[in-house]
Amino acid sequence: MSYPYQIESYEAYQSAWKQSVEDPEGFWGKVAEHFQWRRKWDKVLSWNFRDPDVKWFEGGRLNITENCLDRHLERYGNYPAIIWEPNHPDEHHRVLTYQQLHFKVNQFAHVLHNNGVRKGDRVCIYMGMIPELAIAVLACARVGAIHSVIFGGFSAQSIADRLQDAQAEYIVTCDGAFRGGKDIPLKSVIDDALIACPFVKRTIVFTRTRTPVSMIKGRDVWWEDEIHKVETLGNPPFPAVEMDAEDPLFILYTSGSTGKPKGVVHACAGYMVYTNYTFVNVFQYKPGEVHFCTADIGWITGHSYIVYGPLSAGATSLMFEGIPTWPDAGRFWDIVDKFRVNILYTAPTAIRSLMAFGLGPLQGKQLDSLRVLGTVGEPINEEAWQWYNEHVGKRNCPIVDTWWQTETGGVLISNMAGVTPSKPTYATLPLPGVEPLLVDEHGQEIKGNNVSGNLCIRSPWPSVIRTTYGDHERCQKNYFSAYPELYFTGDGAMRDENGFYRITGRVDDVLNVSGHRIGTAEVENAINMHAGVVESAVVGYPHDIKGQGIYAYVIFSEMHGDEELTRRDITSTVSRIIGPIAKPDKIQFVKGLPKTRSGKIMRRILRKIAEGETENLGDTTTLLDPSVVQDIAKGRLTH
Ligand code: PRX
Repeated sequence: MSYPYQIESYEAYQSAWKQSVEDPEGFWGKVAEHFQWRRKWDKVLSWNFRDPDVKWFEGGRLNITENCLDRHLERYGNYPAIIWEPNHPDEHHRVLTYQQLHFKVNQFAHVLHNNGVRKGDRVCIYMGMIPELAIAVLACARVGAIHSVIFGGFSAQSIADRLQDAQAEYIVTCDGAFRGGKDIPLKSVIDDALIACPFVKRTIVFTRTRTPVSMIKGRDVWWEDEIHKVETLGNPPFPAVEMDAEDPLFILYTSGSTGKPKGVVHACAGYMVYTNYTFVNVFQYKPGEVHFCTADIGWITGHSYIVYGPLSAGATSLMFEGIPTWPDAGRFWDIVDKFRVNILYTAPTAIRSLMAFGLGPLQGKQLDSLRVLGTVGEPINEEAWQWYNEHVGKRNCPIVDTWWQTETGGVLISNMAGVTPSKPTYATLPLPGVEPLLVDEHGQEIKGNNVSGNLCIRSPWPSVIRTTYGDHERCQKNYFSAYPELYFTGDGAMRDENGFYRITGRVDDVLNVSGHRIGTAEVENAINMHAGVVESAVVGYPHDIKGQGIYAYVIFSEMHGDEELTRRDITSTVSRIIGPIAKPDKIQFVKGLPKTRSGKIMRRILRKIAEGETENLGDTTTLLDPSVVQDIAKGRLTH
């Protein structure tokens, strides 16, 4: 397989970008010809960002799994599609060739169908990082069902919220998941979630950890038993369901500035074309190479750059079940050497956590197969960038700093490995099809270079968010109303003298903790669930490893006894309501919160205090009771 649309020089990038914005239809129409369609599209693009209403490849019909699997079989059937490395280094790894993956996806598509799943049904997938997770995702796409993968770290309550929002009647899960030294009882979390979701008809459970589970008669079935039923039928291939280009492919929930996560919806064709295009171009993938994206498939990075991007390109995608620091901090490097990984795509937080172990874990590792390094999820600091470059890439591997979001489906701003220039801590230039701009708070475009502002995008790329599930108005309000006719990213950015972009972080009430997006309002809601809590306010503060830590100011009614114990109670409440990823790092008990006369919490002040600034807190005269500020500053937690 070669990629006729792979850009191989800076000049080719410049001309592709120019063409893509002058004639998006001509540009993307050409790229899309390299995919397998049941019916060709009538129109490449029609759109407005007011409603918003965006349609790519209208009239086209396809099934994404034919592009990820079937079309590779003849020539590349024996190529590895997925290499899986288990959590425990002593357990055997697995390799699934395209042929084998195709077989397993077809088998499981039958299982889904036999259990009642039909086109358009929502299927929630809550599993650890095992090949069956990718198989379940692809099998949903094969039958035309809409998958909604939920990261294994989310709590029963979070799952229930998402199941209800999507009205998902089917669930695929595991008995448990291994993650480092832990064994997470996934099925029992699902059982707790389902108390609030009586509409769920079927739960299919894969055996991974042999953790005891309770199976509810009529609702729960074992994956293995269901596969056995298909085997006795002789394993016929499952005819891929023909989808409209704009039919939804999946929902993925993500946090915003309100208390309720949004179900971001992506559509079949545009998402396929764009994830493939960006995979091939950003990483400069060469057939036969091993691509290792360390994300979890529960996040968008895993969807786009473990599953759909690489597989649609016939690539070899490495999936890792464990964590970078277990059993020791050399785990990534061992995996790179074991499978001769060529592309390593990870998050700044992982790099920083490995840096903290010093150079010892890198000793004796070859890392000579590496050709390209990538980062995603949060701004990378200079120190982490240099460390990655020097000690992992041996100054020999371009680093791609890829900026994008759940809502964008694929990378929007990034250098292309070895093809376009890179600059430490800069995502650099927009990919073809992407027109970024900076605006001030009044929505005026900020032109020229060496400027900062709010990052917007002017026109649609093929994998732009189509809607938020069940609530189109919310999509309009969240992304398309702050600045008329523009997509607003929620990020701030600067543009340097060369026109390179550097993303500085969120400008809304969304935190980025270890590369995970968490809404402050969500954490506050969870804290407020604790019986003794009167009110709370949550802000982010700089954290050496996590990028941002969570600082909570809490008004507690009648504190009896141990503050530390109360802190632990509150933390475990958050863990139960959202999941361990949202646990506050610091909880300060306060008597009051700085509020304006209209009752709005002045987070700017709380943020400053959390960051360590206790003197210059700006104008506090508009506050209802300015004296609370001094009390809060005095009680600031330093550890
Ligand atoms: O703030 C930006 C940050 O992560 C946010 C998107 O989070 P999520 O939807 O969970 O997707 C993460 C993986 C694509 C963005 O709004 N972000 C992501 N990549 C970068 C980044 N910030 C700086 N540099 C990046 N490369």
